[in-house]
Amino acid sequence: MKTIIEPFRIHAVEPLTLTTPRQRRGLLEGVHWNLFALRARDVMIDLLTDSGTGAMSTEQWASIMRGDESYAGSRSFERFEAAVHAIFGFRHVIPTHQGRAAEHLLFQCFTRPDFVVPNNTHFDTTRANVEVWGGSAVDLPCDEIHNTASDHPFKGNMDLEALERTLTTEGERVPLVMVTVTNNAAGGQPVSLENLRAVRDLCTRHGVPLYLDACRFAENAYLIRQRETGQGERTLESIAAEMFSYADGCTMSAKKDGMANIGGFVACRDDELARDLRSRLVVTEGFPTYGGMAGRDMDAVAQGLREALDPGYQEYRHASIRYVCDRLTAGGIPVVLPPGGHAVFLDADAFLPHLSWREFPGQALAAELYLEGGVRSCEIGSVMLGRRDPATGEEIPAPHELVRLAIPRRTYTQSHMDYLIEVIVQVWERRDGVAGMEIVSQPAMLRHFTARFRPIRPRGRAARDRRTATTTS
Ligand code: F0G
Repeated sequence: MKTIIEPFRIHAVEPLTLTTPRQRRGLLEGVHWNLFALRARDVMIDLLTDSGTGAMSTEQWASIMRGDESYAGSRSFERFEAAVHAIFGFRHVIPTHQGRAAEHLLFQCFTRPDFVVPNNTHFDTTRANVEVWGGSAVDLPCDEIHNTASDHPFKGNMDLEALERTLTTEGERVPLVMVTVTNNAAGGQPVSLENLRAVRDLCTRHGVPLYLDACRFAENAYLIRQRETGQGERTLESIAAEMFSYADGCTMSAKKDGMANIGGFVACRDDELARDLRSRLVVTEGFPTYGGMAGRDMDAVAQGLREALDPGYQEYRHASIRYVCDRLTAGGIPVVLPPGGHAVFLDADAFLPHLSWREFPGQALAAELYLEGGVRSCEIGSVMLGRRDPATGEEIPAPHELVRLAIPRRTYTQSHMDYLIEVIVQVWERRDGVAGMEIVSQPAMLRHFTARFRPIRPRGRAARDRRTATTTS
């Protein structure tokens, strides 16, 4: 059959509140044009994140009922540990309440003066957890990532030459190397087995351990099977096992490919490191056999990790993301290519070429998608990643102005995706009239969560030309 159907039927439903464009304008004005400040009930299709927002399966809900809430040595922990052993292969498994707690623990153990952590691209919490312990987080993505329109199959790869240079020049200051699979900040793009193997070789030659940020490991395994030469016949389990065989450990947010609403872990092979991690775990998370999780959540994750490797599930998930990307591309709408593992990324720079980065095209586009159809997305551009040069005080733009439409797992159906496409196409058709945004107030750090905005009037290309003319005259 040509039609790839959702490989599930719906067992419990959560009603959506339908709103009108007029209501949405009032709501958006009420939160100063910041989508993070909207109440979830005022959103029709919520694509803010794929983290912890998915639907659990009947087996996961059944496992919730099996949860053993004993403080120490629960059966839930045994099942959780067994699932992680079977899939990831690391000897030690330390449960945490989510991914960032795993990062916090891991970097704490690797802290040394002026340490440097290379990563293909740090996710923002990973970066913050390196910096909070006094380290520098260095992003070394491959060159292909800079061309959003190219079809390179593994844009998530690490730049091997840059890694070798960093390992050579920084020497002892590098306590570990990390690779994020898939590379979320760079568009959910996968990392190939070939690249992981080469990173492993470099780490071995320089005597530095390699850790994976494994949040979306199953999506990465699926994309390896689809795109890497010679991998097409393998099971997702065996590809995942090979990915992890190159690493000394990992951090994991179970809110992604753990298919759960909360949870995470850090895993490793090194006995001494595991002792250190466990003694620190007790201080901030909990006893080593539950860490930051309830027994029932460990059971849900144990089951979810296996379901993430179900090829039917992955096929449906990627088919629906590809479907949206293909339809948008056919209409000439600029998206990041090839489709990533968990989201569709719109290129707001190319979508709204009449806006300069100082007018935050990503924020403007995200606001329009909400006004048009109640879709909540997330700007990943100069609002989120713009920086100020510490020496000159000048604003530095993000490398790209993107809008991420993250697809929660097993939550929305084909008709929701058709609706999403229609919303985007309608904004595309009136794109020339979309106004830029300006920041009215912002906090010192992580401004995208709480900044207040307002649209710049008068609107559109004519407006920008007028402003430019005013500035130059
Ligand atoms: N690493 C990556 C690559 C992530 O995408 C995230 C979370 C984390 C670590 C942290 O995990 O949320 O469980 O503490 N990403 C979410 C997102 C929030 O929307 O992409 P966490």
